[in-house]
Amino acid sequence: MTDQIGLFEAMSTQRQITRFKKDPVPREAIDQIIEAATKAPSGGNTQPWEFVVITDPELISKIGLIYKDLWLGARGDGPATGETPVYQAARYLANHFHEVPAMILVCVDHSRTTGYTPGAPIERGRHASSIWLAMQNLFLAARALGLGTRLTTTHIRREEEVKALLGIPDHVETVALTPLGYPRGRFGPTDRRPAAEVTSYNRWGNRG
Ligand SMILES: Cc1cc2nc3c(=O)[nH]c(=O)nc-3n(C[C@H](O)[C@H](O)[C@H](O)COP(=O)(O)O)c2cc1C
Repeated sequence: MTDQIGLFEAMSTQRQITRFKKDPVPREAIDQIIEAATKAPSGGNTQPWEFVVITDPELISKIGLIYKDLWLGARGDGPATGETPVYQAARYLANHFHEVPAMILVCVDHSRTTGYTPGAPIERGRHASSIWLAMQNLFLAARALGLGTRLTTTHIRREEEVKALLGIPDHVETVALTPLGYPRGRFGPTDRRPAAEVTSYNRWGNRG
């Protein structure tokens, strides 16, 4: 599949999506965005990433409902007064995650990392930085193909259940879960601090 936009446009309009059409995501598109993810750098080039693509509606429903329970359990069933737009969007996703057309669970396979001892408990978070860049590649590639994503981590509090549903072994850590689908509504622009406000030249705080 060919992308219609340039890299800089993709970066500035790659908004986190919470509302998805029901349309299925073509297998070719999924393969293409995971291919892009695997081009990312990683510590020692260990490439410890694994991508579990979930398209089975029954699994999507079970995992989405775990997410919903966790999210609403933490922030309450009804919108809190003064809930910010970011949390309103997150709440919408929590209520509808079980209906998205696809999900990708991004994982670290600790058996591929340096210093791994078979059978030893895995050290959560230690190698996650080796997969964040792959995830950003995945998000940008999805954006280029007109597909929406959102980085979520809420499922981690019931990770064992999610791992059991998907047959994920003990030496694998789940890091982030993204919905994947065609967005209802538009991409970007995003609300971000201007680069000039976060850049120093030669000395902290010298904005140049
Ligand atoms: C490390 C990380 C964890 C996140 N966890 C969640 C989450 O559990 N649920 C959720 O709905 N969004 C989650 N987000 C999405 C952020 O809320 C979102 O990136 C931010 O609000 C910017 O959204 P925008 O790109 O639409 O402006 C997470 C983002 C990051 C980077």
